[in-house]
Amino acid sequence: MKTNIIIFGGDGDLSLKKIFPALFKRIVDKQISELCRITVVSKSEYTTDTFSDVLELNLKKYVSDITTEQFLLIKQMVIYLQVDLLKNEEYKLIRNSFEETEFEQTLFYFSTPSSIFGKISEYLYKNEIITDTSKVILEKPLGHDLDSFEELNKNIRTYFKESQIYRIDHYLGKETVQNLMVLRFANHLFELAWNGQNIENIQITVAESIGVESRKEFYDKYGALKDMVQNHLLQLLCLVAMEPPSKINSDNVRNEKLKVLKALRPFNEKTVVKNTIKGQYTRGEINGLPVSSYQEDIERYDSPIETFVAIRTYVDNWRWAGVPFYLRTGKRMESRYSEIVINFKKVPHNLFPNGKKIENNKLIIRLQPEERIELVQMVKIPGPGGYRYKPTSLELDYGGSFDKEFPDAYERLLMDVIKGNQTLFMREDELRASWIWINSVTQNWEKSEMELELYKAGTQGPGDEVLLPGHTWHESN
Ligand code: BG6
Repeated sequence: MKTNIIIFGGDGDLSLKKIFPALFKRIVDKQISELCRITVVSKSEYTTDTFSDVLELNLKKYVSDITTEQFLLIKQMVIYLQVDLLKNEEYKLIRNSFEETEFEQTLFYFSTPSSIFGKISEYLYKNEIITDTSKVILEKPLGHDLDSFEELNKNIRTYFKESQIYRIDHYLGKETVQNLMVLRFANHLFELAWNGQNIENIQITVAESIGVESRKEFYDKYGALKDMVQNHLLQLLCLVAMEPPSKINSDNVRNEKLKVLKALRPFNEKTVVKNTIKGQYTRGEINGLPVSSYQEDIERYDSPIETFVAIRTYVDNWRWAGVPFYLRTGKRMESRYSEIVINFKKVPHNLFPNGKKIENNKLIIRLQPEERIELVQMVKIPGPGGYRYKPTSLELDYGGSFDKEFPDAYERLLMDVIKGNQTLFMREDELRASWIWINSVTQNWEKSEMELELYKAGTQGPGDEVLLPGHTWHESN
């Protein structure tokens, strides 16, 4: 489809690291036609030529092998427009750029701080740049609490219909995350056991070893709960907990996810203290190298912002009644990995005399850095001497089972926008429901004056305190 892709803030970090490499790969694969155009709009003083140099440098950095011919393919599609996004009159430049060529659709990618999404939408409208064939991609964070989300959403919805809006959560574009749907809904075996009668608890961990890097100012306003839980972890939880939709289309899937978000048990002043932990990293060591504390990293020595959060929550519905969902995420943890662990219930009776403890079966879905599914089961240790057994994994190396390289999340998501498939994008009611639940955490943290717990960089953080007696975090590393 002949598309005009206009990236606002297109010279920024996200654009150069993620959006352009994704576009580049799809152009080289001929899934995006050379007849499309990519317009970069930003305030910085570039021309099309000087921006092209920056782009080449960055593509060489973020895409491993790139030939001159391949770069020329994308170069001839890119134009740069220097526009102050907060000045209505400057949008004429964007409108004029439409004049020589006709496109079947226009895709606006807002890769700027979300505080100006409303203004950009308004000026696009005033300059008659929005049409029925326009689509808009919004990068998170969409708000910092329920009210700010509502306001932002209202501003955008004044100019765009819901069917034109694509709210990105890049976790939904990850191949392993999509495989969750197939694992659950194309395998009778798992679906039969997928409920509170058979499952003892579910754990979702997204651990990062990096710190806050260049995003100090942003991070110190948001913290781990709003940066990671509000979107990525809740979306993973939805995919694990939702009912099977009757068909895999955007509204069916999003309706089911919404039901999960609405069934999440909100916190009050007492439960927030028992069921959540917020932590902040202090100095420590990662891979044998010393790293500084969060406060040193952001150069603010009284910051109350959490870089780690662990939560025990419940999905109050028929399927999941009484099953704890444990969520955990943090910066500067021991290593980078994301995984979902389904801990099945123990067998009701141990019939092996003198047998050791029989451990729970577990299904471990490793999302990154390796893509792997493990089913942990008890297996007899061969040899005489009675029944001795130990937990052993039946392992599917998901990455290694296919010779194809997995596409980056942004590649898939951008192609979905071009094709008009909203399934992997969040609908406004999902965002609203997740902010309502997040508000119940933050407001009650405030009321109960919940204190931060400090953890040493390079460790797994203080997450044990939210576990019920007898439960432990699964640690693969
Ligand atoms: C982003 C967060 O949404 O996700 C970052 O803002 C975080 O803080 C990143 O580092 C993690 O993404 P991934 O794909 O590396 O797990």
